[in-house]
Amino acid sequence: MKKIAVFASGYGSNFLQINQHTQTGILNAHLAILISDHPEARCVMYAKDHHIPYFAFDPTHYSKRAHYEKEILALLRDYQVDLIVLAGYMRKVGRTLLKAYPKRIINIHPSLLPLFKGKDAIKQAWHNRANETGVTVHYVDEEIDHGEIIIQERLIVNHKTIEELEKDIHQIEHRLYTIAIKHVLEEIL
Ligand code: GRF
Repeated sequence: MKKIAVFASGYGSNFLQINQHTQTGILNAHLAILISDHPEARCVMYAKDHHIPYFAFDPTHYSKRAHYEKEILALLRDYQVDLIVLAGYMRKVGRTLLKAYPKRIINIHPSLLPLFKGKDAIKQAWHNRANETGVTVHYVDEEIDHGEIIIQERLIVNHKTIEELEKDIHQIEHRLYTIAIKHVLEEIL
């Protein structure tokens, strides 16, 4: 069975969903480890409570990205991770990991990339009065929210409040990420 590592910084609803789907067999993969740059994040608490291996680090304790990425890489190798899944990991991925996992790092972003890159993509779409937005899953490269697109889903924006839009976007994310992960794992020999 293929092994995945999830990288997350915050709330972790995508992480929780991926974990659930590996447990129920919807995703034929093993969630090997959670990596987080926020030791107090909800995703870390969840991993602790559910005995999911995790590595939670404070980036301010390292002088360079390469230093903490080397530690992460050693763990990924120990756990024989095949695929890195970014799920709200609010940090650029550096060369150390990109080189070690070419075309094996994916990210989910709540917009139709290349539109509304970066932080608060749902807010950006809302405040720009976009008629449509959506969700993108893509391979990760040196640039933020860039890289070959794996799958996208469009959503018409006809919501009364931004909260309603956010809810719909997150529902799409949870479904779409599982489809994308399945697809990418099938491509890995
Ligand atoms: C999601 O909207 C994802 O697309 C973006 O960060 C958010 C993470 O949400 N990259 P959660 O922590 O998984 O709930």
